[in-house]
Amino acid sequence: MRIDELLNEVSGRLERAGIMSARADAELIIGHVLGERRGRVQALTMLGTAIDEDRAERIRALAGEREDRVPLQHLTGRAPFRTIELSVGPGVFVPRPETEIVAQFAVDALAAVPDPSPVAVDLCTGSGAIALALATEVPTARVWAVEKSREAHAWAERNVRELGDDRVELILGDAADAARLLPPELVGRVHVLISNPPYVPDDMVPRDPEVREHDPEQALYGGADGLDLVRAISRTGLDVVAPGGLIVIEHAEVQGEAIRALLAADGWRAPATHRDLTLRDRATTAVR
Ligand SMILES: C[S@@+](CC[C@H](N)C(=O)[O-])C[C@H]1O[C@@H](n2cnc3c(N)ncnc32)[C@H](O)[C@@H]1O
Repeated sequence: MRIDELLNEVSGRLERAGIMSARADAELIIGHVLGERRGRVQALTMLGTAIDEDRAERIRALAGEREDRVPLQHLTGRAPFRTIELSVGPGVFVPRPETEIVAQFAVDALAAVPDPSPVAVDLCTGSGAIALALATEVPTARVWAVEKSREAHAWAERNVRELGDDRVELILGDAADAARLLPPELVGRVHVLISNPPYVPDDMVPRDPEVREHDPEQALYGGADGLDLVRAISRTGLDVVAPGGLIVIEHAEVQGEAIRALLAADGWRAPATHRDLTLRDRATTAVR
């Protein structure tokens, strides 16, 4: 069998299963089994290269799981995030492209801190995506990351081992207790606090099966209005962040106004909501 025939077969199956990114997913599944990048799969497709039956069967088996709406990243075990690639699987939230945009606010603020060793905190770190991106992109930064779920924390540990160095510290615990969990000498000295917390209201069940059935509930739901963790992070953040430091919070597009109001009520200055590339309000920042 030729790769182009297999690609058409697999992407057709995924398209019929309602997957919007059917062809890209098919190319990535084939690339995963062949151990090749997506661009190389596209080249092999154009060349009409042959593929052996063993590998074709493995690709068909993974395509079957993807048809059942298992997230692509669980099948490949990898999730790209900004300049890095994380290990992910059941038990941890798959990092999203929208968070890549939100992380930019923290990268920029951290890089602009006039301190030889700026400090960031990532609350609700999941796979460790934001914390590791900050440490990678701001090589002078020290980053503390807090995660409550043991399963997610185990994924973060693995990613810190693979991608981090001694500038990234993981803490298993509740983000609401950040001021107590961080080393005492850092409390009130943190330059940038960032969080992508669970923010889906409890009664709003996500439409996509990949999210509904495969992201951990603890990663999604944030109480009646989705803002339970945001309120807790705002409060603990006041103790943790240095005067003049920045808080960055990812949220749903309808939550900007409520988050600006609660940050202002807690005493944060200059709350501002920012749009993503699709012009949706997805992040709010404020100054301590
Ligand atoms: C939306 S996910 C974000 C994960 C990661 N920051 C990212 O952007 O990919 C939220 C994460 O918060 C964790 N979490 C939920 N409640 C928490 C709490 N009270 N304290 C710390 N982490 C919490 C979840 O387990 C999950 O890993």
